[in-house]
Amino acid sequence: MNLGFIGVGTITEAVVTGLCEAEVPGLSILLSPRSIDRSRKLSERYAALEVATDNQQVLDRSELVILAVRPQDAAAVLGALDFRRGLKVASFIATISSAEMQRQVGPAEFIGRVAPVPPVARRTGPIAMCPPNRKLADLFDPIATVIQVSDEAQLDAFFSVSALMAPYFELLESTSSWLRARGVDPVDADRYTGSLFRGIAEKSTQPTGEGFAGLVEEHATRAGINEQLRRELLAAGFYDRIQSGLDLIQARMQGRATLDDTLE
Ligand SMILES: NC(=O)c1ccc[n+]([C@@H]2O[C@H](COP(=O)([O-])OP(=O)(O)OC[C@H]3O[C@@H](n4cnc5c(N)ncnc54)[C@H](OP(=O)(O)O)[C@@H]3O)[C@@H](O)[C@H]2O)c1
Repeated sequence: MNLGFIGVGTITEAVVTGLCEAEVPGLSILLSPRSIDRSRKLSERYAALEVATDNQQVLDRSELVILAVRPQDAAAVLGALDFRRGLKVASFIATISSAEMQRQVGPAEFIGRVAPVPPVARRTGPIAMCPPNRKLADLFDPIATVIQVSDEAQLDAFFSVSALMAPYFELLESTSSWLRARGVDPVDADRYTGSLFRGIAEKSTQPTGEGFAGLVEEHATRAGINEQLRRELLAAGFYDRIQSGLDLIQARMQGRATLDDTLE
């Protein structure tokens, strides 16, 4: 397949790295030329990658083009391009709806919004997409756990949940710095923290559809230290804040809130 990307930033780099490392047979990828240092480095590393002379060439030489510019740049970037009938287009752009994307890329066919995350560079982590699409799902299957939904509000919800990446690392930083403050060697603090979280995360990747309450139970020995810390975090509203924080992020995704809105 001839695949093109308009916008070669953090997420495109992650996705194309995953795809190239997966050595997907018959895949050739054309990158837009802006961010030339990144595009050039990628194309030097992987034979399947090439850098186009301009954005229009990406469209003209691809069967499927993925849009991955920042939301605020999208209208200007897309408005300058000539989308042909028969071209398929998908988008990583978090905050622009399918209806709006179809309007901007017509007469090309908009086939879906896709929500990847940076770990796909290492061929792990989820990619959610809406609507379900066999071609896109097959493309991303070698690098991610692919989740397909028909309801666009659910895709916004998946996008919202991906905002937990930085808070997750903040939790690790909080853990490691607490150990450092007790005189633990910084390397040991990071090694212990990273290994603890990786070890327990592995338990969560065998989905049952019944949620994770069973794992909570399994890890909260009666009257033990896990039970106590969980009890205190629950009482402090720590998990309630995560739920209301996700509500806020989803509202922002859907244009009902802005960066200036807070939980207070
Ligand atoms: N990062 C994530 O984890 C993630 C996950 C899912 C979805 N997304 C979505 O993916 C999109 C890109 O995110 P990102 O984090 O990769 O952003 P980013 O690192 O800022 O990348 C955007 C890229 O688009 C380039 N660009 C700007 N104008 C352009 C033009 N006229 N032609 C071609 N390229 C142009 C930028 O170049 P300059 O730097 O030179 O302006 C930059 O390299 C966003 O819409 C975001 O919502 C991101």
